Amino acid sequence: MNRLDGMVCDLTHDGRGVVRVDGKVYFVEGALPGERVEFTRTKRWRRHETGRLETVIEASDQRVEPPCEYFGVCGGCAIQHLSAPGQVAYKQRMMLENLERIGKVVPAAVMEPVTGPVTGYRRKARLGVRHVPKKGGVLVGFRERHKSYITSLAHCLALHPAASAMLPALHELVSGLSCFDRLPQIEVACGDSSIALVFRHLEPLTENDESRLRRFAVEHEADVYLQSGGPDSIKALAGTRPRRLSYTLAEHDVRIEFEPTDFVQVNAAVNESLVNTALNLLAPDPADRVLELFCGIGNFSLPLARRAGRVIGVEASELMVSRARGNAAGNDIANVEFVAADLYDDPAGTLSRHGDCDKLFLDPPRSGAVEVVRDLVPKIMPERIVYVSCNPSTLARDSEILVHREGYRLSSAGIVDMFPHTAHVESVALFERRT
Ligand SMILES: C[S@@+](CC[C@H](N)C(=O)[O-])C[C@H]1O[C@@H](n2cnc3c(N)ncnc32)[C@H](O)[C@@H]1O
Repeated sequence: MNRLDGMVCDLTHDGRGVVRVDGKVYFVEGALPGERVEFTRTKRWRRHETGRLETVIEASDQRVEPPCEYFGVCGGCAIQHLSAPGQVAYKQRMMLENLERIGKVVPAAVMEPVTGPVTGYRRKARLGVRHVPKKGGVLVGFRERHKSYITSLAHCLALHPAASAMLPALHELVSGLSCFDRLPQIEVACGDSSIALVFRHLEPLTENDESRLRRFAVEHEADVYLQSGGPDSIKALAGTRPRRLSYTLAEHDVRIEFEPTDFVQVNAAVNESLVNTALNLLAPDPADRVLELFCGIGNFSLPLARRAGRVIGVEASELMVSRARGNAAGNDIANVEFVAADLYDDPAGTLSRHGDCDKLFLDPPRSGAVEVVRDLVPKIMPERIVYVSCNPSTLARDSEILVHREGYRLSSAGIVDMFPHTAHVESVALFERRT
């Protein structure tokens, strides 16, 4: 039987409804917990099958009309059909469920979610570009769901409004370039007062292309960069003088400058609240030495240095470290030192000459920080650890080590809604040494 109906009991980590029928598990896109749905079986996997939603027989009270016309096709957002409070509750459930199942830990307190605007929040994005004659020519937008096609976007509800407003003109611009079919990507980076666009091109541009790009830059008040190869090949469009991208963390009197392809937290407003929340949890005071791992260009380091006695920021990328040093100097912050080191390769050995610390702050990539919690933490035993995570499963794995092997308690944890309408779960947790 290809058509089934059943109750949705949960959401997967990527926002699909989980339906159990006759002992079998089906993942159905677009279905929400509490709903009764009819669906068609589409594909069999080892432990589950997937299904296409046909009818919502009984709708959840959390179901809303998706605000974007591209929802369902565009891969940028996965859960627009769930209300904003429903999305936050889902992310919190994901975090707690991972902590309990993988980490065998329950936080003593669950913090108020850190939330912000749910539209226009994306200040960084990588737009795909494809030439598809059958679909009318050049397409600019995000990848389609589960496919490598591009959804051609005339606007995007998640993108910074100024960047979204440029989308129709970007289609037109690329269509008029000589290498319209050899330009796979445009990277967008928005600072507080300027926007940069990095055009990745696989063939040299002509004089005419460059003058079109210069005209676009003037008309749209954007700074244009060209990338002909790897990241080292990025350069400003000839004849232009791009402004420095920057954002401020007003409460900490900090201004962070960055380059268009640097890592910056995607959601400016949520980042500001996250910095405040993380600082309040770590509670640095002038007597404290703080070790900050995976520090990037100094987003947390500089606010930390405003309150702590000394901060040591560690980061793998030499380029980011030099940017972080420049940001410290630009803000007249002298009690911070930045070190370039690979924290997945013997962090205890690498950091031994930097001495002890009272408090530890970490914000690792998706793969987490197992080497840090397993090898470094037992050597330095900080009294407090604040862990910002972009992957609840690695946070849970690392929590298990801290709580069950290293003598910490998970005092609080909460989610940070950095990417509204997507299933991406960002969270922050505070660990305190038991003795
Ligand atoms: C999630 S970002 C956080 C950046 C910074 N905390 C911020 O808020 O902007 C993770 C950072 O870890 C760095 N990183 C990735 N792998 C690393 C490694 N093996 N050792 C040290 N740093 C690494 C990345 O370059 C990136 O800057």
